[in-house]
Amino acid sequence: MFPQRRMRRARSRPIQPLLNETNITKNDLVAPLFVDETAKTPQPIMAMPGQFRYPVHEIASVCQELWTIGVRAVLLFGIPEHKDPDGTSAYDPDGIVQQAVRIIKSALPGMVVITDVCACEYTTHGHCGIVGPSRCGEMDLLNDESLELMDRIAVSHAEAGADIIAPSCMLDGMVSSLRNALDAEGYEKVLIMSYSTKFASALYGPFREAADSGYSFGDRSTYQLNPANGREAYLESRMDMDEGADILMVKPAGFYLDILADIATLGLPVAAYQVSGEYSMIKAAAANGWIREKETVFESLTCIKRAGADLIITYFAADVCRWLDEK
Ligand code: PBG
Ligand code: ZN
Repeated sequence: MFPQRRMRRARSRPIQPLLNETNITKNDLVAPLFVDETAKTPQPIMAMPGQFRYPVHEIASVCQELWTIGVRAVLLFGIPEHKDPDGTSAYDPDGIVQQAVRIIKSALPGMVVITDVCACEYTTHGHCGIVGPSRCGEMDLLNDESLELMDRIAVSHAEAGADIIAPSCMLDGMVSSLRNALDAEGYEKVLIMSYSTKFASALYGPFREAADSGYSFGDRSTYQLNPANGREAYLESRMDMDEGADILMVKPAGFYLDILADIATLGLPVAAYQVSGEYSMIKAAAANGWIREKETVFESLTCIKRAGADLIITYFAADVCRWLDEK
């Protein structure tokens, strides 16, 4: 017989787990969490069945539950009560994310707390930073004004106790600006996980309902990448590495495995963000009985890890921990 065929047969036997090249473990996972300043009770997110916006007074028990089942890292998004054109509530020392970080770190010091550093949930126009007329006269994100805003947000998160800050708006020079700002305030140990390769993707749709961050004009294509451009995506991540990023990120994950594999060759840890649309597609198909949820989730995450991800940010994190315990 052909040796390849014998190998395939061996793989279908009980030794299969020993031969797995890639295994999903609890340590691979980061759970995104939405904290809502005006919510009194958990608010279900319609487009993301099973996900909620939590009031800050429930965030300790939510994280305690995640910790108990084995989630070791969370990524926080805030939905503030107050929005303005300059996103000032994003760096309020008593802002929603800052409060949540303090609560989580005092209840569970071992939980790795990552914060999304961006302004789109905090601005009335819904863009990721300061906007104004660009040189061509159209309204656009103003790079340098927005950098200053990101520095203030990041420092306020570090002050509250964040372990990792995750800047998500892909401004030019953002990582070095953040590194300098953090170091100047004595936060040398706070890591930067840059959304270094972030595509202008239709898959963020459900998130904009979840985070109340839809924009009122234009789109984000001036500061997010064209899905058609792989080499550009690689260069963007390499620039963030050169500026001092500690962890790179590819977002979305599942459609972009070629990019993920390329970026993993840079040598830094790479996170992959399985975004809201990827979650909702699986949920919707499973709810219709068209695919099996657990199998699809494990397949998607295994393939993301196989492509080169060290960390996977996924709304399935809690489910996966429970499923791993059942196995
Ligand atoms: C905001 C941000 C977005 C996501 C994470 N941070 C939305 C966007 O860029 O429009 C999307 C996450 C998801 O879809 O799960 N900068
Ligand atoms: Zn944003």
